[in-house]
Amino acid sequence: MELNPGLLPLDWLLGTWECDEPGEGCFPTIKPFRYTETLHFSHVGQPVINFMFNAFHAESKKPLHRECGFIRMQPGTNRVAFIIAQNSGLVEIEEGELTGQQLNLQSQSLARVSFAREPHVQQICRVFQLRPDGKLEQTVSMATDNQPLVQHLHIVYRRAS
Ligand code: HEM
Repeated sequence: MELNPGLLPLDWLLGTWECDEPGEGCFPTIKPFRYTETLHFSHVGQPVINFMFNAFHAESKKPLHRECGFIRMQPGTNRVAFIIAQNSGLVEIEEGELTGQQLNLQSQSLARVSFAREPHVQQICRVFQLRPDGKLEQTVSMATDNQPLVQHLHIVYRRAS
C-alpha cells in the first residue's frame, strides 16, 4: 500500500529495526543496564504511522519495556507528534520537529494509571536520527519527581526489513 503523501518526510522510519549491539540504560538512581530492542513502524495508508517498540534484558532476554502508538505530522509543516502508550502505565504525547532525518521530541503531556510505580516521570525528551551509515539511533532523557532531565537510554539499530 502506498504511504500517505503527507508522511513521505518520515518514510525512512518504516520497517523493522533491530539493535546492533545492546543499548545502554542509565539514570542517577538505578544500576546501569544493557538492553536489546526491536522497533516496528508500519502504515495502512492513513496519514498515520503505527509503531511498536519491544525491549528485552540483554543478558536474561526477559521482556522489559514495551511501547506502542501512532505518529502524525501536521500537514504542510515539519511538526511531528507521537501518541504513545507504555506497558508501565504511562501514556504520553510527544511533539517536535523533523529536521532532515532527525526527529527531536519533547513530552507535551503525560498521564499514568493511579497505581503507577514511583518515582513518576515528569518530562521526556527523545531524539531519533538516521545516520549517514544507514543506522538509526535513539536517545531518551527523562526527568522524574526527584531527578532533573538526564539521559536514560541510548541505542543504535540496523534495518532488519
Ligand atoms: C527505570 C522510565 C524506557 C529499562 C526507570 C524508571 C523510570 C523509567 C521512571 C525509575 C527511575 C528511578 O527509580 O529513579 C522510563 C521511560 C521510558 C523508559 C519513561 C521510555 C520513554 C525504558 C526502556 C528500557 C528501560 C526501553 C529497556 C529495557 C529500565 C530499567 C530500569 C528503569 C531496567 C531500572 C529498574 C526498574 O526500575 O525497573 N525507567 N523508562 N526503560 N528502566 Fe526505564
